[in-house]
Formats: sequence, C-alpha cells, structure tokens
Amino acid sequence: MDLGIAGRKAIVCASSRGLGRACAFRLAEAGCEVVVNGRDKAKTESTAAEIAKATGATVIPVVADVSTAAGQAALFAAIGEPDILVNNNAGPPFRDFRELDRQKMIDGVIANMVVAVELTQKVIDPMVRRKFGRIVNITSGSVKMPLAGLDLSSGARAGLTAFFAGVARSVAAHNITINFLLPGPFDTERLTTNIAANAKSKGIPLEQARAERMAVVPAKRFGTAEEFGAACAFLCSQQAGFITGQNLLMDGGQFQGAF
Ligand SMILES: NC(=O)c1ccc[n+]([C@@H]2O[C@H](COP(=O)([O-])OP(=O)(O)OC[C@H]3O[C@@H](n4cnc5c(N)ncnc54)[C@H](OP(=O)(O)O)[C@@H]3O)[C@@H](O)[C@H]2O)c1
Repeated sequence: MDLGIAGRKAIVCASSRGLGRACAFRLAEAGCEVVVNGRDKAKTESTAAEIAKATGATVIPVVADVSTAAGQAALFAAIGEPDILVNNNAGPPFRDFRELDRQKMIDGVIANMVVAVELTQKVIDPMVRRKFGRIVNITSGSVKMPLAGLDLSSGARAGLTAFFAGVARSVAAHNITINFLLPGPFDTERLTTNIAANAKSKGIPLEQARAERMAVVPAKRFGTAEEFGAACAFLCSQQAGFITGQNLLMDGGQFQGAF
C-alpha cells in the first residue's frame, strides 16, 4: 500500500532502538526523510545508517536528549519544519509508588507528558499553514490497564492523552491528526528490563518471569517492533486523515474489554 507520504519530513523522537526505531524504519520505507534520535552517539548513528541503507531514504541522526530544550532545538535544526512528529521517550523505571519523591514525579511527568506537549507546540502552526500534519504519541497499554509499579508512567501518559484530546479536535480541520499508540508487551530492551525487575522482586528466574508475562497475553507471544512501526506509519499516512484523537491499543488481546 502506498501510504502517500513520500517526501514528507518526519521527526521520530527516541528512535535509536526499540519501538521508535521501528517507526522510523517504516516511515523511511514509505519515502519520508527521517530524523532518528537517541542519546548514545554510536547507536544513533549506526541506526540511522542501517535504516538509510535498507530503505534508500535520507535518515539524519540527531544525538540529543529530547527532554531538554537544547535537544529539542537540535531535532528541528536537523530537518526544519516536520510534517510528521512521533513523540517518544524513555519510561520511568519500575518502582513502588511509595519510593517516588517530588523530584522523581516531576521528572516523570516532564519525560512522558511535558516533552510531547512542548514539541507539539513547536510543530503545530507550521502544520496548520501547510494543511498537513500527523502526530503520533507512543504512550502505553498501562493508560488503559495500569500496572502497579509503573504508576508514574501510567499517570503521566494518561495526562498526555487527556491533554491532547481537546487539541486534536482543535486542529482536525487543517488535516492534522493526533493519535496515540498504546504498546502492550513488545519484545524490546525496555520490556526485558521490566521483566528483569519483576523477576528480582518476586525472586524468580528471568526465564520464568518472561514465560509468566507471555502466558497472560491471549496471542501467547510478545509483539514485534516491526508490527508496531507499521501501525505508526499507517497513522501517519495520507489515508489515515480521518482518524484523530484515537488510542490504538496493541497488546495481543490482553485488555479484557470490547471497547
Ligand atoms: N516495549 C514495551 O513492551 C513497552 C510497553 C509499554 C510502553 N512502552 C513505552 O514505549 C516507549 C518505547 O519503548 P521501547 O521498548 O522502544 O524502549 P527501548 O527499547 O528502551 O528504547 C528507548 C529508545 O529511546 C531512546 N531514549 C531514551 N531516553 C531518551 C531521551 N531522553 N532522549 C532521546 N532519546 C532517548 C533510547 O536511546 P538512548 O538510550 O541512546 O537515548 C532508545 O532509542 C517507552 O516510553 C516505553 O516505556 C514500551
């Protein structure tokens, strides 16, 4: 399927590995010029080179912390005014909520809510002028089905979801969509880290914790980053222009609800 976005410019935040990388790959495959971002220089540059080689697209590595003003400026300096913005960032570590002090809570809200709002503020008016914009926010299945220990992540991301619910409607007439992808368990380093923390807290082997985590997924497997990236690219497509303000849960059926 031709997604109709060849030649569009895309910034994919936090995309040197995992789900962000997969989104960047699929957008590059669709013919976009893509900014790939991460804090680790070697990894960010090697990912950009791999995606460029595999897709033939222009892929620009930007080594920057997306949570900082300087990092955000570096993203825009690399590509100018993007048509597509994929908001992504690291999630806070697994932690009992009693251990969260004020600074940790503020940092978590900045990382998983404020940064996405700041970046959207910067892209939205140029998108309105060009009458095209696609914004995808990578949040989490925990927005719908919270997981104790990831409370800060769930809270900040649910806040972002509510924040953008109104914004999405306010720009829809300009062919701008704002949607959310809610990953359940996807086989990335982040998932492995969470499973390891769970194994440690329960005092069980890592493999057992991994099997237990997989057993509760009706699909009986973890999602692949490729599946995630494909969904992201579709939400960024020309054809998805009538889908906005929506939360797409990708969890292999784990959330037990019809809606
Ligand atoms: N995988 C899952 O099953 C799952 C489930 C629910 C929610 N999520 C959420 O989905 C998001 C992506 O998860 P993932 O599994 O793809 O994570 P991941 O494999 O750990 O990858 C995280 C990526 O973000 C980059 N990054 C982290 N902090 C950054 C920062 N401040 N500035 C710029 N880049 C940064 C990392 O590169 P550097 O470290 O080099 O900066 C890396 O490229 C996270 O918010 C995660 O909490 C994931």
